[in-house]
Amino acid sequence: MPGYELFGAEERRQVQDVMETGILMRYGFDAARKGIWKSVELEKAICDRFGCSYAQLVSSGTAALTTALASLGIGYGDEVIMPAFTFVASFDAVLSVGGVPVLVDIDDTLTLSPDAVRKAITPKTKCVMPVHMCGSMSDIGALQEICKEHHLLLLEDACQSIGASYKGKYVGTIGDAGTFSFDFVKTMTCAEGGVVMTNNKDLFIKSDGYSDHGHDHAGVDRGADLHPFIGYNFRISELHAAIGLAQISRLDQVLTIQRRNHQHLQSMLSAIPEVSFRRIPDAAGDSCTFLSWFLPTESLTRAVVQELKAQSILAGNFYWFDNNWHYIRKWDHLKQGVTLNSLHPDLKKAVIHHANKDFSASDAIMGRCVSTAIGLLWTEDQLKEKGEKLVSVIKQVLSKQSVSA
Ligand SMILES: Cc1ncc(COP(=O)(O)O)c(C=O)c1O
Repeated sequence: MPGYELFGAEERRQVQDVMETGILMRYGFDAARKGIWKSVELEKAICDRFGCSYAQLVSSGTAALTTALASLGIGYGDEVIMPAFTFVASFDAVLSVGGVPVLVDIDDTLTLSPDAVRKAITPKTKCVMPVHMCGSMSDIGALQEICKEHHLLLLEDACQSIGASYKGKYVGTIGDAGTFSFDFVKTMTCAEGGVVMTNNKDLFIKSDGYSDHGHDHAGVDRGADLHPFIGYNFRISELHAAIGLAQISRLDQVLTIQRRNHQHLQSMLSAIPEVSFRRIPDAAGDSCTFLSWFLPTESLTRAVVQELKAQSILAGNFYWFDNNWHYIRKWDHLKQGVTLNSLHPDLKKAVIHHANKDFSASDAIMGRCVSTAIGLLWTEDQLKEKGEKLVSVIKQVLSKQSVSA
C-alpha cells in the first residue's frame, strides 16, 4: 500500500511551511502560527475527498480505532464482532477500551462473513467492526442490514483501504464511524497518523475531545478549556498533517496506477484455470493495493510460496496464513491472553475463549490465499516480468503436484 513510493517536492514544501512558523502542535499558538493550520486543512480535505461530514485526525490508525470505539460508547464487557483476518491493532483497540474482541470467520471476500456475524450476536454485542482488508471492501451492505436489524453500531476499520468504495460511497464513511491509517505503508502516508470519519456531530465532538485529554476546544485559550470527560493524547502533529496534505493530492494518481497494474497482473494470472480470485462485493470500488488470489489447495499454495522463495522472487507476495501480524493462527499472545497489566478475570476469560474457537472455515480460505502487492513504480517491462515469473512458478508447481493433493 505504497503512498511513500510517490514522495517528493510537495511533501517537502508542505513540511517547510510548518518549519517556518516553528509551531508543530495542532492546537493553540494562534498568532505565532501565521495562519498555518495543516491538521485543520487536512481534516477538511478528507471530508471533501471522501464525502463525510466530520474528520478527526489522530496519531495512528490504532488511535483512530480506539477513539472511535470510546466515542461510540463501547466499554467494559461490550462485545465487538470482528474478523479473524485483520491486523492486531483491530483487537488491540477493542481491548484498550475494555471491550471483548469477538473474532469470527471470514469468507471469500477475505473479510467478515455476514453469516458468521449473525451466529455470533449475543445480548452483549454492541458493535460490528468489519475490516476492509488489502485495499478492497467487506460485504458492507449485508453487514449494514444486520446492524440495522439488531440495533448494533457499525465501525469500519478501513485502515488498509483508503480510496476503495462500495456502491459509490467511500469505505470508512458508510458506518456510524470509520477509520484510516496513514502509517508509512498505507495508500497515503503522514509517516504516522490516522483519522476517525463520521457523519454524526456528537461522535465527532467526542472524538475531538477524547484524542486531546478531553478538552472541549470551545475557545481560543487552551488553559481555559473545560473537560466534559476524561480523554487521552492521541494528537497528530502539524508535521505529520503537512505530509498528509501533500499525499492526499496524489491519491487519484496512486489509485489510477494501482488499478492499471492490478488489471494487467490479474489478466496474466487468469490464464491459469486453477487460479481464482478474491470475491469483491463491488469490483469497481477496489482500490487495488493488492491482487489476492487462490490455488485449489493449501499444499499447492505452500509449494508455490516455497518455489517463489527458492527463486528469490517471494518479496511482495504475502502468504498471510503464516504471517504473525495478520491472521489468528499465529496470535499466540491473544490466544493465551498475555498482557503486561492485569485484565479483569471475566474479560481475560472471554478473550481467551473467542481467540481459541474453531476457525477452520477461515483456515480453508487463508491456507490457499496469496496477496501480491501492487507497486506504483513498476515499468511495463517490470510488471510483465513479474507476472510471467509468477505464472511460470504456478504452472511449474501445478505440473508436479496433483490439484486434489
Ligand atoms: C487493518 C488495520 N487496522 C488498523 C491498523 C493500525 O494502523 P496504525 O499502524 O496506523 O496504527 C492497521 C495498520 O496496519 C491495519 O492494517
